Amino acid sequence: MNVCISSSSGLSYKDIPLLAVPVFDTEDGAMPALPSDLPESTFGSYLSQDLKGKLGEYVVAYWGKENGVQRILFIGIGKTSELTLEVIRQWSGHVVRVAESIGLIKASVYLSRMENISIDNAAQAVVEGAVMASWSFTEMKSSYSDLPPKVSEFTVVTDDLDLEDVGHGVEIGEIIGRASNLARTLQSRPGNVATPTHLADQALIMAKERDLDITVMGPIELQKERMHALLSVAQGSDQEPRLIVIRHNKGIKGDPPLVLIGKGLTFDAGGISIKPAKGMEDMIFDMSGGAAVIAAMQAVSELEIPLNVVGIIPSSENLLNGSALKPGDIIESREGKTIEVVNTDAEGRLILADALSYAKSLNPAAIVDCATLTGSVVVALGHHAAAVLGTDSDLVEELRDAGDLTGERCWPLPLWDEYRRQIDSEVADIVNVGGRPGGSITAACFLREFVGDFSWAHLDIAGTAYGEGKLSYHRKGATGFPTKLLIQWVRGRCA
Ligand code: BES
Ligand code: MN
Ligand code: ZN
Repeated sequence: MNVCISSSSGLSYKDIPLLAVPVFDTEDGAMPALPSDLPESTFGSYLSQDLKGKLGEYVVAYWGKENGVQRILFIGIGKTSELTLEVIRQWSGHVVRVAESIGLIKASVYLSRMENISIDNAAQAVVEGAVMASWSFTEMKSSYSDLPPKVSEFTVVTDDLDLEDVGHGVEIGEIIGRASNLARTLQSRPGNVATPTHLADQALIMAKERDLDITVMGPIELQKERMHALLSVAQGSDQEPRLIVIRHNKGIKGDPPLVLIGKGLTFDAGGISIKPAKGMEDMIFDMSGGAAVIAAMQAVSELEIPLNVVGIIPSSENLLNGSALKPGDIIESREGKTIEVVNTDAEGRLILADALSYAKSLNPAAIVDCATLTGSVVVALGHHAAAVLGTDSDLVEELRDAGDLTGERCWPLPLWDEYRRQIDSEVADIVNVGGRPGGSITAACFLREFVGDFSWAHLDIAGTAYGEGKLSYHRKGATGFPTKLLIQWVRGRCA
């Protein structure tokens, strides 16, 4: 999607097939925030009869000129008191969906100052919503001819005095929206395309474009690094594992980096502890954390964040063959800790263990990992929030704040000793499953064993990385979650 900005003066002379105007739900009825060039008197009186101003509710009015504004889309944005950046994202998502339904390839929105939200942040959110709404995954279709046309040009119209602030927000929103869409594209690629090698190749392409440092380790390097936990998961598959390390070195030289880690399990059949057939196809999304980290690194680079940031993606398949890891096997980790594997489907924590241990060797300022780690998190929080757990309550708070701002919310769970005891092993240092109760917590307790005293937090994104596409800017499938959250967290670290 091509994103532009334009001044609201002389609107009537610009070629605008559709101009969306936010309509607020107020006590005095529906209140459109119209640009001054389009006199309110023309619409004001009848509008309130047709619209309440509820988010997404709309009326299209035909202005009817060959040139100039051809249609005005009066579209609800809800109550001023309930206006958030996420509401704005969803609002522009609705705008794109309406434009799509009419068959337009160009959409414009009028943005003016609002209470409580600065106009540059509002512009950023509007663009994030539009860019994300315009995404779809079509690359595996053999023919494009029967696909509906897509909105490919999006213009933010604003008053002259706000052009500069809006321009700034638009730029950031575009970077973040595009990053989310990159994550969604990588997530959506099926397991036969998106192998660990493919993920590494995509990371290499992105790093080359952005001039980021990148190292990709294969089986030989992983052996040298003693990453036996990652290698053990990969041994049941014909596909080689990879460990991808992407470095953005724009902080002070030698300054401890922020480390982002993402689970890059490109297909999770469960291994010998094989999953039931129903829904197994969704396990192509088990690399969502890795996709988000690759995408966030792209945005961190484009935003020129003045910090050292490292992205690490351990990547493997979890399949079953004659050499596969078996229940009862005891393996060693890079850390030296031995792990009793009682369920080969708890593989995410195994590949993350070695990545966390590697992250420690970078003397990080903080580590944040994200992973589609447990089905339990869906039981705990459904599809509306990720779980966040960590060793540093300030870091957890930072992530919650970043989640609230980006609409990628996370909610804390505890890491108490009682839970840790569930992963005591009789025969090894630790066992990879702590039973059904508190499954997301015991999984995080397992990860904590590999981070030592560093500031660390874990996001369990199994319930949020993909879904039914209920939000206006989503579609069925990949959501890109938590790309926006990660970027916001990193940005917050340099404010
Ligand atoms: N990738 C799955 C977790 C998952 C479940 C992601 C549902 C997305 C949706 C993970 O590797 C897994 O299989 N976890 C097991 C752990 C269990 C064996 C302790 C689970 O949650 O069932
Ligand atoms: Mn699994
Ligand atoms: Zn998994």
